Amino acid sequence: MKDNVPISIYIHWPFCTSKCPYCDFNSHIQKNIDQNDWGNCLVSELNYIIKTYFSDNLKKYYLKSIFFGGGTPSLIESSILKKIVRKCIEKFKCFSLENEVEITLEANPNSLTKSKLLSFRDAGINRISIGAQSFDKKFLEFLGRDHSVHEAKRNIEYAREVFKNVSFDLIYAMPNQTVYEWEKCLKTAFQFEPDHLSLYQLTIEEGTAFNQMFKKGKLIPIDNGLASEMYSITEDLTQNNKVPAYEVSNYSKKGKSCSHNLNYWKGGEWIGIGPGAVSRFFYNNKRTQLDIRKDPNGWINCVKENGNGVKNITSERIEDFWNEKLLMGLRLVKGVNIKPIKSILNMAKVYELIEASYLDLDNDIMKTTFNGRLRLNSILAEIIK
Ligand SMILES: C[S@@+](CC[C@H](N)C(=O)[O-])C[C@H]1O[C@@H](n2cnc3c(N)ncnc32)[C@H](O)[C@@H]1O
Ligand code: SF4
Repeated sequence: MKDNVPISIYIHWPFCTSKCPYCDFNSHIQKNIDQNDWGNCLVSELNYIIKTYFSDNLKKYYLKSIFFGGGTPSLIESSILKKIVRKCIEKFKCFSLENEVEITLEANPNSLTKSKLLSFRDAGINRISIGAQSFDKKFLEFLGRDHSVHEAKRNIEYAREVFKNVSFDLIYAMPNQTVYEWEKCLKTAFQFEPDHLSLYQLTIEEGTAFNQMFKKGKLIPIDNGLASEMYSITEDLTQNNKVPAYEVSNYSKKGKSCSHNLNYWKGGEWIGIGPGAVSRFFYNNKRTQLDIRKDPNGWINCVKENGNGVKNITSERIEDFWNEKLLMGLRLVKGVNIKPIKSILNMAKVYELIEASYLDLDNDIMKTTFNGRLRLNSILAEIIK
């Protein structure tokens, strides 16, 4: 049995103080949340998954990362965060809480204060990812955010004082945004010396308020050419500021890429708990996926009754796993080893795309070039048999 396998744990907190018009994440507005109850149920679900699927080979794993995502997990009380972190650490062998296990909390600037950030650090959080979204009042309003530019900036500054690993998210390529406006926003970001940046082009997702507006012709997405120009400027500015891309939308200082997301992108194993979370791991030599039910109230009732909210269990075919590895691996600047997955590839097409400078291939490591990353989806459609 292979030993020393990294495993990650994802915890989904499905609540926010308001719903942003672009967001299709599993996030809800709900008052009167019994956080103790929620904490206990999350721990129950973790215990259930570990007992059912990992008890025979727990020792082969070491805990690589914990990620509190949402929704807005910065709304969780620190005592509850601490309890969940302790449980995760207790279950898997870990070297030291601070240095070895990356423990991220996604945070909305509207729910932060310096003392809260300090209490998160005391709870074991060692990496914070702040949803700043924009440093331009006009675009924060467009995005329907319930915080100001000042709040975002102030909380990033506090976060820098409290944590050694600070990331923030920005959205760009919005309707009516100019290249100059995005450049200005990005330059502001570098004033805070981020360790990591997630820079997302705005997408219009099914089921969102923006999608309704789009269908009625009230929201016109930005022109593709302009979006590509912004992507290109982003590449240059991040490189110049020593926070280069390591994935399509993610940029980091050396040694500060997100271990948790890298584990997903490299086809690693993880446990996901909370409404709508997904787990993927090898069980009985098969890559297994667990889907947790999505609706928060249905989930909590189910966990109280059965100890877990698992809705579906599926075993992946090896071809599907390879497909996923390729899909994820090509998002990474370092690329993916295609040796085990050549059978699913149309190699003639691969060589054509290398010739056209969209792909690179060296010793079986296949990478997208910058131009390739601009049209990743169409490349994937072309090279998979
Ligand atoms: C779970 S949220 C982050 C934490 C917190 N809920 C917040 O909004 O501050 C994840 C991130 O996904 C990005 N995001 C969500 N929907 C998006 C969309 N339609 N287009 C681009 N980025 C999006 C946002 O940047 C957001 O910060
Ligand atoms: S972007 Fe963040 S704060 Fe806004 S609804 Fe989505 S999860 Fe909640």
